[in-house]
Amino acid sequence: MKRRGNAVEYKKDKFFEKMDRIGLALSYGDVRLRTGQSNVTPGEVDLKTRFSRNVPLNCPIVSSPMDTVTEHKMAIEMAKLGGLGIIHRALSPKEQALEVARVKFYLNGLIKKPICVKAEEKVENILRMIEEKGFLFRSFPVLDSNGRVVGILTNNDFEFCADLQATAGEIMSKDLITVNEYPPLESVFEIMRKNKKKVLPVVDRDGFPTGMFIYSDIKRIVTGSSTAYNVDANGNLRVGAAIGVGEAELERVELCLKKGVDVVVIDTAHGDSQGVYSTLEMLKEIKKIYPNLDLVVGNISEAESAKRLADAGVDGIKVGQGPGSICTTRIVAGVGCPQVTAVYDCAKAVRGTGIPICADGGIEYSGDIPIAIGAGAETVMLGNMLSGTLESPGEVIMRRGFPVKKYRGMGSLGAMEKSKASRERYGQVADAKDKLVPEGVEGVVPFKGPVEPIVFQLLGGLRSGMGYVGAATIVELKEKADFRRISRAGLSESHPHGITITEDVPNYERKGD
Ligand code: XMP
Repeated sequence: MKRRGNAVEYKKDKFFEKMDRIGLALSYGDVRLRTGQSNVTPGEVDLKTRFSRNVPLNCPIVSSPMDTVTEHKMAIEMAKLGGLGIIHRALSPKEQALEVARVKFYLNGLIKKPICVKAEEKVENILRMIEEKGFLFRSFPVLDSNGRVVGILTNNDFEFCADLQATAGEIMSKDLITVNEYPPLESVFEIMRKNKKKVLPVVDRDGFPTGMFIYSDIKRIVTGSSTAYNVDANGNLRVGAAIGVGEAELERVELCLKKGVDVVVIDTAHGDSQGVYSTLEMLKEIKKIYPNLDLVVGNISEAESAKRLADAGVDGIKVGQGPGSICTTRIVAGVGCPQVTAVYDCAKAVRGTGIPICADGGIEYSGDIPIAIGAGAETVMLGNMLSGTLESPGEVIMRRGFPVKKYRGMGSLGAMEKSKASRERYGQVADAKDKLVPEGVEGVVPFKGPVEPIVFQLLGGLRSGMGYVGAATIVELKEKADFRRISRAGLSESHPHGITITEDVPNYERKGD
């Protein structure tokens, strides 16, 4: 890394400048990272990074807001693995906010505003409220007529209640333990374990509720592998939500924010549009209403677009127009830029501003991730690689004797027919099937089981790449990366050759050229 005046220069700049001079844009299969002298072992690299200015991650994997990839199950798993899931927007604003809530409620270090019930409330009414509000929990502090905590209702109390006309006060457990402050989670865990309490209310000196701890959540955090979890300041898993452009989308923002969403992604096929309902106007409008909310905007693939978004106050940029495995944008519309050059150009355009770049689409192998980061991205967004898993939405179906799951582009006919949001992402106003111009395809991928081992292998490949480059951190990988252009023969040589592979490996399978 060199400095020229205020500008920072990296080794890779010369490589990309040379490519630019001959008008060549490159993608993952066109380049490899140069290896460098290294004292970094893969096991010791630090994968911490950021999706947006104020949303840190423990690893650079983000799941795509697609209806066959990210709802709450995927987002929970992503955050548990240190990454982030972005809930798709082919849902009503209410449904989307509920998905956000499911992620935020999954791990409650401290519930600051617990939902309480009154002692005189009938069980029947409480159950109805749980159903109507879509609550995913059944633990409530019970309050007397003055609002003081007098008992606790838990799942057991509901399970063993034979009379729905009984009141909360009649079935609650009165044998309470409370704390007056917010002790460290380790102490909370000990208090609850010793006293065999599943719920620990926090009350002020007068007995009014000020919080609540749930044993299963605290246990998940204090024991287990939760150090990698991507959690917010309250100990809740982080999650993002995708929105479109237009006034109606403000409702999504409002509802998702109420549920604690950490970042909102303005997710359009063209992230550099101007006009009344453009991405730029939308960005400015939301920033005006919610100045503290992190906003990521996409997708773009040109340096000038990145600069415009930066000037408009964006907190993160999503790069990729047409690299996705289900995309036909480049073929249908004839636009776009091969992904490695697109990432490099956009990242260079905002270098020094602190705005992170997310390389969205086209990742086929773990080795593409160090390449994307080396080119300038802070994170990668994955669709295909996470699809077909236990955590992706949709059923496992049998096709020609093999278990598969659906995976489709949000600009595919099926997705556009089903959802107005998908039509809008691709600027389509018609809703009749024969009047839609799809920019994506739909199909199936093999059922892959849980997503955790897939992410483990992806991160293993990234760690290994960082070791070869000699980069101990994501920032160092961006700074130290240098590239070689490879030929078709070079790419063939890179893949196994001259062998019929007989044993499956967890991180390699030849994909279509
Ligand atoms: P991968 O390669 O991971 O790419 O499957 C996922 C990304 O592709 C984008 N996407 C689309 N792009 N038409 C497109 O041109 C579509 O129908 C479509 N659906 C998704 C999106 O950026 C996603 O993250």
